[in-house]
Amino acid sequence: MDSNKCQKSTTEILEEFPNAKRDKLIPILQRIQDSHRYLSKDSIRTISRFLNLPITKVYGVASFYNQFCFEPLGEYEIKICRGTACHVTGSLKILKYILSELKINENETTNDGLFTIKIVSCAGACGLAPVISINEIFHSQITLENVKKIILNLKKKEMIYEE
Ligand code: FES
Repeated sequence: MDSNKCQKSTTEILEEFPNAKRDKLIPILQRIQDSHRYLSKDSIRTISRFLNLPITKVYGVASFYNQFCFEPLGEYEIKICRGTACHVTGSLKILKYILSELKINENETTNDGLFTIKIVSCAGACGLAPVISINEIFHSQITLENVKKIILNLKKKEMIYEE
């Protein structure tokens, strides 16, 4: 599946912010992160020129917030909550399964670019633990069986798109 088909370039996105000053840095970073799903070195450089800010400043601000990432995310960003409520209801088992099934470590993306795995400390839904999210859609009271099905279905879906 090619999610980048209609993606705007960094320069095109910056045209949405005419006369922007440095106070627009975070909205610009968010807009580019939302569109590209990460901040490339080229994007950082282009933003730096656009706002007349040093590259180190742009990078420094972006790296302060964990909403921004600097490597391309997989098509599916799976976040596994490892807070206390999720831990006691089985999130470690789920995490281990996903990492071993996808053969990656946390914060990594599979070679086919399909999955990125992240760990969060509390997703804010402890009463519904264990919780995972896939592209910001929450799956609560998730079981290992549910996870197996979800991963399998996502893989199948992608195979269909490739045909
Ligand atoms: S600990 Fe997982 S939602 Fe709070």
